[in-house]
Amino acid sequence: MSAPNLRARTSVPAAASVPPTSPSSTTVSTPPKRSASQAAAKEDNVRVSFFDVVRALSGLILLSTLLSYLITGTSLTWGYKPSWARPARIRAWLKGPLNLTDAELSLYNGTDASLPILLALNGSIYDVSASPHIYGPGGMYHVLSGRDATRAFVTGCFDVDLNGDLRGVEEMFIPIPDSPQSETGEGEGGISKEVRTVRKLLREKETRVARKKVYEAVEGWRKLFDGGKGGKYFWRGMVDRRVESGWEGWGAKKELCEKAKQGRGRREADEVVGGS
Ligand code: HEM
Repeated sequence: MSAPNLRARTSVPAAASVPPTSPSSTTVSTPPKRSASQAAAKEDNVRVSFFDVVRALSGLILLSTLLSYLITGTSLTWGYKPSWARPARIRAWLKGPLNLTDAELSLYNGTDASLPILLALNGSIYDVSASPHIYGPGGMYHVLSGRDATRAFVTGCFDVDLNGDLRGVEEMFIPIPDSPQSETGEGEGGISKEVRTVRKLLREKETRVARKKVYEAVEGWRKLFDGGKGGKYFWRGMVDRRVESGWEGWGAKKELCEKAKQGRGRREADEVVGGS
């Protein structure tokens, strides 16, 4: 019984089993229903869904995390620590910027372990708690913490310049003149008007260049404290320099410290027309 049936099924072509819908369709063979659904299924297999991408990415991240931990032994991110993700920074961000008077700032010099170590540069306060061995008690630069010592940052005089007064500090970058008169312009009565004018222009140019050097020196330090060293240090607020806060200003203009005086170059006599 079963053998003739089998023969009949195999001997009849698939196209012949579909009845023609019109006279012209007799010559066109319609694809069998089964192969159409197979094609659709194949298409479905090729299409990549959003979840496939998420799955693949998650797998890659997991693999990278595992490999990082296996290789470094401690880090899940190959040793990379985004600065914004550091706990101290997040805590500071949540508390908001500080506005401290000089007296208040002096409490943050590392002697009170419950407070961060802060220093100020040109009125901006930075958190340097990441380097207690440098800025904390006993550290090489402990004198710089808890205060605005911008002047010492420029001159290097840690004994007398632990303040933020930059007035006149540019002098350290102005060459020592060939005569005292040519620096101040005083007592130049005996020389011609032209020479006086040239000396005056030279003094002005030297002062401009020197001020730029002061700016560059301070800016170099600012870059270190404002996110330098991989974001180790960070901006924390401003020193309150309003008169209402009790700030009395810097007092009289300071003399250049000895070390900075000694570091000044000497102006060549022939740089100035009429130089002695
Ligand atoms: C204008 C003069 C100078 C100023 C204002 C100054 C200031 C500083 C500051 C603020 C740091 C710490 C940087 C950080 O937080 O990573 C530092 C590091 C250092 N400075 Fe100076 N410095 C001066 C000159 C010198 C000189 C002349 C020497 C060498 C005799 C020196 C030796 C060092 C050393 C060895 C370190 C590294 C300390 C460490 O990482 O433990 N500095 N300097």
